[in-house]
Amino acid sequence: MIRGNDPILLTPGPLTTSLETKQAMLRDWGSWDAGFNAITASICRDLVAIAHGGEQYVCVPMQGSGTFAVEAAIGNLVPREGRVLVPNNGAYCARIVRICRYLNRAVADLPIAEDRPATAAAVDAALAADPSISHVALVHCETGAGLRNDLEGIAQVCRARGKGLIVDAMSSFAALPIDVGVTPLDALIAASGKCLEGVPGMGFVIVRRDVLEASAGNSHSLAMDLHDQYAYMQRTTQWRFTPPTHVVAALRAAIDQFVAEGGQPARGARYAENCATLIEGMRVLGFRPHLEPGVQAPIIVTFHAPSDPGYEFKAFYGRVRARGYILYPGKLTQVETFRVGCIGAIDSNEMRNVVAAIDATLKDMGIGSAAPALRAA
Ligand SMILES: Cc1ncc(COP(=O)(O)O)c(C=O)c1O
Repeated sequence: MIRGNDPILLTPGPLTTSLETKQAMLRDWGSWDAGFNAITASICRDLVAIAHGGEQYVCVPMQGSGTFAVEAAIGNLVPREGRVLVPNNGAYCARIVRICRYLNRAVADLPIAEDRPATAAAVDAALAADPSISHVALVHCETGAGLRNDLEGIAQVCRARGKGLIVDAMSSFAALPIDVGVTPLDALIAASGKCLEGVPGMGFVIVRRDVLEASAGNSHSLAMDLHDQYAYMQRTTQWRFTPPTHVVAALRAAIDQFVAEGGQPARGARYAENCATLIEGMRVLGFRPHLEPGVQAPIIVTFHAPSDPGYEFKAFYGRVRARGYILYPGKLTQVETFRVGCIGAIDSNEMRNVVAAIDATLKDMGIGSAAPALRAA
């Protein structure tokens, strides 16, 4: 898959990409070039197809990291007098709350423990209690802990109550199944450098055509105006402003590999095997995952830090990196943790190898046991 001397990124994007994807960036494209614009159009078609969007949905690409696309979606699809319910069980949910506040969209923050999923029942109760809520903004996989929220159940609740649903599917799209034919939603947002295994630099919003059309004039920002981006692209085939050409070319190559692998079911299965191999190997070393298996998404795993006084994340990180693997710090507020990603152009051999690298690192650091201080409640 990937070969070379670069360390393997076990992070949730940027992630390790294949050689073919990297090679696709060796050509410079002009933004007016018909060949380049045909690539953009083909990517948009394929992304709608991955979500099973048919004719009802369109894809609007947006320059920037994933947050730019999330902000563009909220700013366009929630009218200025709207009110957004955010089931909040982690850092990326909290970011949506902040976005709403920046954009002056009223927000109802529904706090949930970081190791518990957002459920249809909790969202239903919050909607019943506050009829002024117009939209729910849900993070599908909360990458902060690595937890999967109940998108399918919450989508049915939103439909039953006539509320809009905007889904941050940044770290789940293309790996976990999302079929907008059976899971009704207004829009989902993801990016080039996540489970599609492209490089970072471009987000996209897959949005119901009628919802996008009705959103003209809502945006607070020219650069973030999704409706304008879409309308201009329809008229001209071009991006409104300088496109991330190399990122787009790499994403085309990455999607071709995604299709050749067998699409979402195959990608999801590979990540699930990576995740299971990782958790099993780490348990043998004494590490404990933060989440219960039922809510763990096969994307990134949070492990409790060892309680041994010889453990210190920076030193641990540096030594594992020297062995060829890049880990990720924890993002939980209450307990000390670190994270290991399962996504990217890697397979379960890499997971076995990183466990071996962690084992050797613990021995180097004189850490006898990786067990954390506290047992789960
Ligand atoms: C759930 C989720 N939302 C949003 C983002 C967007 O973050 P960024 O702007 O850093 O790409 C990420 C990135 O990992 C994510 O996991």
